[in-house]
This record gives sequence, structure tokens and C-alpha cells, in this order.
Amino acid sequence: MARIAAEIIEQVREATDIVALISEYVPLKKAGRRYRALCPFHTEKTPSFFVDPERQMYHCFGCRAGGNAFGFLMEHEKMGFVEAVRMLAQRAGIPIPERGRSAASERFDPLYEANALAVRFYHRLLLRTEGDVARRYLSQRGFVDEILETFQLGYAPGGWDGLLREARRAGVAPEVLERAGLVIESEKGGHYDRFRHRVVFPIFSLAGRVVGFGGRALGDDVVKYVNSPETPIYHKGRVLYGLFQAKDEIRHTGRAFVVEGYTDLLRLVQHGITNVVATSGTALTADQGRLLARYAGEAVLVFDGDDAGAAAALRGSDELLAAGLEVRIASVPPGSDPDAWVGEVGKEVFLKHVAGARSAFDVKLAHAAAGRPLTDPDTKVSVIKAMAPTLAGTGDEVQRKVYAHELATRLRVDESRIWEAMARAGVPEEENLAGEPGRSVQEEAEMQLLGLALADRDVMEQIAGSLRASDLVPGLRRRLIEILLDAWEKGQWLDASRLLDRAEDEEWGRVISDAVFAAETVSEPGDAACKCVVALKRFQFERMIREVKRKIDETEQDGDERLLAALLKELQELVKRRNVIVTEGERALRPPSGGSRGSVRGA
Ligand code: UTP
Ligand code: MN
Repeated sequence: MARIAAEIIEQVREATDIVALISEYVPLKKAGRRYRALCPFHTEKTPSFFVDPERQMYHCFGCRAGGNAFGFLMEHEKMGFVEAVRMLAQRAGIPIPERGRSAASERFDPLYEANALAVRFYHRLLLRTEGDVARRYLSQRGFVDEILETFQLGYAPGGWDGLLREARRAGVAPEVLERAGLVIESEKGGHYDRFRHRVVFPIFSLAGRVVGFGGRALGDDVVKYVNSPETPIYHKGRVLYGLFQAKDEIRHTGRAFVVEGYTDLLRLVQHGITNVVATSGTALTADQGRLLARYAGEAVLVFDGDDAGAAAALRGSDELLAAGLEVRIASVPPGSDPDAWVGEVGKEVFLKHVAGARSAFDVKLAHAAAGRPLTDPDTKVSVIKAMAPTLAGTGDEVQRKVYAHELATRLRVDESRIWEAMARAGVPEEENLAGEPGRSVQEEAEMQLLGLALADRDVMEQIAGSLRASDLVPGLRRRLIEILLDAWEKGQWLDASRLLDRAEDEEWGRVISDAVFAAETVSEPGDAACKCVVALKRFQFERMIREVKRKIDETEQDGDERLLAALLKELQELVKRRNVIVTEGERALRPPSGGSRGSVRGA
């Protein structure tokens, strides 16, 4: 896919009225200088979805969906950015000239194209006589045509070069197929197909492009699955199978079922349970947790009813808890898996059973106690030890507190013992210092600062003179501020729309619109920005101070006097510098009159 020139994107954006566009999808009602509607991205009874004609942005205060006209189309129509621009260009009658490709698309596009070719080829074969055997296999397992369509299942032919020959006809080089993981280089130097005589399950990215495949044997082959290797566009740990198809339903219900296998997922979908994703049989990763948390509030793990399944669920739940999700673990009958189970009992019984699934906390507690009574002092100690990392890693602060309290109550110990154990196990990095439910003061400051910089050129100038990206905690907000600072250095001020034009995924739209709308209520942008910068710098120092204190604690125990002295000196220095920020920071940073603006730079 070719990139579109920035000027054209700008032109298209200017030619598009977001109110007119969105009203083609949802009926908008005027509310002050904005328009209001029931949010098309989540279920609600009172409208919390707003469209702002002045800013040409939309935002939902309920589900935090938000962005500009391109973002709306991307989210609503599930299209990529380029497609969205093309669609709006067409609507506005603006021709899009083809032009050179970016380095990134030059590297990745051929791989996507190779996968697209493979999907078409395999799927076509499945529907033809060549695919009879695979189609019979799938229908024996109870899969209907609609599933084959929705998930673009395919049949990779037997023989060694079915795909290779198809690619040759289409002018795609074997080397490209190899980089996409579709063929393997043989020792003699030629290539052969990776997937042979298998049912193939294409794995879609969030943007709906195929990034890899799983290939299942048609019978009891020794090798049950052959999978795509990691490639520049496929990272197993960062994708969830089925999320592309399931994301709307997950957002609507707020809940996702997580299964291990492709066939588990397909069978649930076929029974009308469509808010489901699958790992590819690999351990859940932090990336997958964060990915899922963008759509769901709750995850229910439905893994195989054997020891391996139970162990995988226990491990996986930690990553999901860390992402801030509520997590429950459903118990599948021994020896069964979700696929067989739902096939046996049907949707209603299945849903009823998983509705009663125990929380991951409960399951972990039972596992840690291993049948011993919780009144037994030794059991208390080992349970606290076993539970501490999970609790400390729980991303949602409220949930973390609830669990700590719950564990103390169940064990009948003082809650402080639990917190001590959690502290030893490592408290999460982004500590909540006070304030707003769900969002820390730190996050609040970052958010507001971002919003102010996008809304007001003067504020951007002020920030550029006083803040460095490294004053922020690593994460998307820091990345966005970094982009703003970089652009400013090159003489360009990015407002919200321009920044959104560079958006890489939906999260950007959410964060940016959140920021813009959060900054809106600010009456003195310059002052507010100052306060944010000071707060962020202070937080930064406080992080460093905590780190040094931790080292001091450690050193006190080993008794290295010289190191201890050095650390104490460092601590003193940090505290002094922090105090300067607190007492003088704001004054020093405040624009004009004082004239000492920017003097805290590099603090
Ligand atoms: P399962 O063995 O449960 O397979 O592995 P399944 O998907 O339920 O397949 P059926 O029902 O036996 O046909 C779960 C997942 O683990 C990965 C696959 O992603 C599979 O979907 N897996 C399993 C492999 O990658 N390789 C294997 O050899 C086995
Ligand atoms: Mn299975």
C-alpha cells in the first residue's frame, strides 16, 4: 500500500466535516456548540458521545473512544489509515496521486502482500475439489461455511510447491515468501512450501491484515500444528488470534473469553459466543494483556481441563491482572477442552457455567494453600509469599487494595503484613500518588500537558523551553510529547489533528482526544502547563529518590560503608534539587515578566 503525501492528507482533512460524516452513521443532536449522540462504540442509555465541529474531533466520555474523521472511519469501519484517507478523499472528490513508499512500507508491504496472496490461494483451494478432504475434515468437526468465511480458513495443498507456483504466476519472489515465513529454503538452495496438506488458520492483525498462519494436520499427524515463524510483521506474543473479528463484541460486552486453541475459538464463535480470543497455545504475554485491556474490562480464561491447562491459566492470569483486567478462571471438565465441551453442552449451559467461574484471586489462593487450612501459621506464611507477586503486579490500584484486604481477612492477619510482602515482591512502577479514581496524579498531569500543548501554540513554546521527554514515565503519552518536542525543534507545531495523522493505532486516538477534552476546562493554560511541568519533574525526582532509598536499605544490610556514604550524599543532592523544583519551579517556569523561563531545564 502506497503512502499518501502529507499535503494530500491535510487537504482531505480540511475538506471533510466530521459532523456531516458522523451523522451519516449516528443521529447527532445539537448540544451547545457541540453535537451529542449515543456512542456507536459501546452500549449506553444516556448519550456520552460528543462531536466537536470546531476541533473536528469526537470523543466518548463513556468508553473513551475518540479521534478525528480518519479515526472515526478506522474504528467504525475497521479500515486502515490509508483506506480511511482514500475513502474521505473520494467523498470530497480529491484525487490521490500514487507516490513513493516509505522505508517502513517498503520493508513490510511485500510481506503483507505475500500473506494476502497466500490467504486467497489457500481459501480458494478449500472451496474447490482440491480442498474436499479438508472441507470434509472441518465439517466432521462441525464447522459451518460461515466460519470458514469469517476466519478465511484455507487448505494448503499437499506437494511441495503449490504456493510457490501460485506466487510465481503473481510475480512474487520466493525470497519474499521466505521472509513472510510461507516457504522454507532447502539445503540445495531452492524453496519449498512450509504448509503442506493442512488446514490453515490465518492470523489477523488488529487492522485486519494477515500476519501469519497456523496449519493443522488433517488427521493424527505426529506434528499437529505447523506455525509461521516470527517475521518482521508477525510476533506471536503481540497478537491475539480472533481479536480482529471479536473486538467490537468484546467492547460491547466488556468481557473476553480467552482460550488456547484455534479450534476452541472457532467452536465458541459458532455457538454464538463471539467475544473470544485465543493465544496460539503459547503463554500469555504482557503485550497481549495490554492489548486485551484496550477492549475488555474482564477476561475469563477457559483453558483445557488438564494440568497443563490449569497451570497455563494460573500463569496467564498474572499478565492479565497486570494489565488491569478483572480475571476469572473457568474450570473445564477434566480431559475436555472448550471446543468439545461447548459442543457437548451447548451455549446456554456453557455460559451459565462460566458465569460462575471463580476469580483468578480465588483460584490462586486455593492453589497456594494446596488444601492446608488457612489457620495454620506456616500455611499463612507460604500463602502470603505465593500471592504477593500477583498482588503487587495487579495493575488496577483499586483491585490491588481489594485483594490485599481480602487476603488479610481470609488469612486473619494484619493487612500491613500483606503490604510488606507486596513491597518486597516489587510494587508496580507507576505508583498512584493520590487523587482521581483510576488515574494517578502523574497520568493526569501528563494528559493535561499533552492537551494544552495541542490546543495552544504558546503553551507548546513554553513547554519546549522547560520540559524534556525523559521527565515523563515511559509510555504512549511520553512518546506523543516526544513527537511534539521533535516537531517543535524542526519548527513545526502539531495540533491534535496533525498529531492524529501520525497515529499508529486506536489507542492514539483515545489518548489524544482524552487529553484535548481534559485540557478544555482549563482557564489559564499557561499557568496550568507550568504546574504540570513542575509536577512531572517533581515526580521524576521522587522516583529517583525512592530508588536511592531502596539502594540505601540494601546497602545498610551488607554494611558497605563507603557505598553507603556515597548513596546518602546522592540522596541529599536529589532531595535538594527536588525542593528547588517544588519551591521555585513554578516561578522559574512561569512565562515572561520574570524572564527566568526555562531555567529549570535539564534539572
Ligand atoms: P491444542 O492441542 O489444544 O490444539 O493446542 P487445538 O487447537 O485444540 O486443536 P484440535 O482441537 O486438537 O484440533 C492449542 C493451541 O496450541 C498451539 C495451536 O495454536 C493450538 O491451537 N499448538 C498446539 C501448536 O502450535 N503446536 C502443536 O503441536 C500443538
Ligand atoms: Mn482441541
